[in-house]
Amino acid sequence: MNVYDGWRIAAMLDARGLAATDKISDADIIILNTCAVREKATNKVFSELGRVRDEKKSDALFGIVGCVAREVGAGAFRRIPELNFVLGPQSYHRLPDILDNPDARLLNIDLGGLEKFDELPQMTSSPVVSYIPIQEGCNHCCTYCIVPYTRGRELSRSFDDVMRDTIAAAKTGAVEICFLGQNVNGYKYTDENGREFRLSDLIRETAKIPEIKRIRFTSSYPTEMTDDLIQMFSIEPKLLPFLNMPIQSGAPDVLKRMNRPYSLDGYMDIINKLRLARPDIQISSDFIVGFPGESDSDFEQTLEIANRVRYINSYSFKYSPRPRTAAAIMPNQIPENIKKERLAILDARLGEIQREFNEGCVGRTMPCLYEGPDKTGKYMIFRTPYMQQCIVKDSPRADYKILNIKITAANKASLRGEISQD
Ligand code: 5AD
Ligand code: SF4
Repeated sequence: MNVYDGWRIAAMLDARGLAATDKISDADIIILNTCAVREKATNKVFSELGRVRDEKKSDALFGIVGCVAREVGAGAFRRIPELNFVLGPQSYHRLPDILDNPDARLLNIDLGGLEKFDELPQMTSSPVVSYIPIQEGCNHCCTYCIVPYTRGRELSRSFDDVMRDTIAAAKTGAVEICFLGQNVNGYKYTDENGREFRLSDLIRETAKIPEIKRIRFTSSYPTEMTDDLIQMFSIEPKLLPFLNMPIQSGAPDVLKRMNRPYSLDGYMDIINKLRLARPDIQISSDFIVGFPGESDSDFEQTLEIANRVRYINSYSFKYSPRPRTAAAIMPNQIPENIKKERLAILDARLGEIQREFNEGCVGRTMPCLYEGPDKTGKYMIFRTPYMQQCIVKDSPRADYKILNIKITAANKASLRGEISQD
């Protein structure tokens, strides 16, 4: 979501005649787009702001947008008096105000609107993989999570707005569409005639666009994986066989204290239904280790669920207490050294599973999306239907889109392949 927000901000600056620079000392405007989900990211924002302040031109405009802006609000001006603007994740479309009126300070951390999606200029060219936000905010109140405070309650964009952006992306270069939302499968929009639209409707409609060859969505909440959506995996071949559906922990007691009200059986039922719909589907997850009160045996259960589901490509984090969240004041906070140890054990296990999955792909031929040349410009980077990176040692060709790639080698992080001649 932050990457997408960054694109929109860049498109707006572009439309106003500004061009990107790599050098802070050359910039006329410097914007830090920020994440507040873990403490480390928040702390980094302030050290980075200090660095920018020291390097920038004295008259350059400079500010923060995003979730840390919303979290610290006017306090940001007290910590860094040189800041010109502080704009929350739903008010960055107010950036033109500061360009028009550079001597005023601008603070807006309001929530409750999706105007930003419509008020900023559209992008004139789209990346091959285009993100399209369909909803923002979250009504699940996981006790560790700051998102319901920083991005607010769930708001779904209208079906027509999403489809307009999707078609525009397809016409300007997108081959893959990734629908975005903090709780993407909670998407629900009712039009003026009372007709309700769900994520499955967006997928069905998007699949009709000839330029779009692949569709995916992230991030999904397990209990909102409704049957209409699961069915899409069996009837819509453009929907990739890959789903990010975070479980966070494999221990029922921890899930209860996280306020994630699903049982392991319920979660496994959803996975089984998905596998019935699309036998080759692969799942990825997010995990939090060291949640308050997490015992050794709770942690063992997280390892067990990882072994059972065989997640590919997951993200795991040490629990980080966040302001205003219920978990931050729970008893039995876990010491840092134990969190670190558990994270290393879980990461090692997830890495092995991922390597085994990658190695199992050797010899297979898969339709892969060409993303562009590698850093050296000599080779090509493709993305498999399971989101694995696949390097092909061949000279880049601009006209490639989806090609059959034969996988020839694998390690934990990526695959090697060659263009299939069959
Ligand atoms: N501490 C650690 N990880 C967190 N996440 C959300 N809040 C926290 C927190 N307080 C993780 C969850 C979520 C991902 C985006 O970030 O795993 O799925
Ligand atoms: Fe945060 Fe995701 Fe839970 Fe919503 S579902 S509160 S975004 S972790």
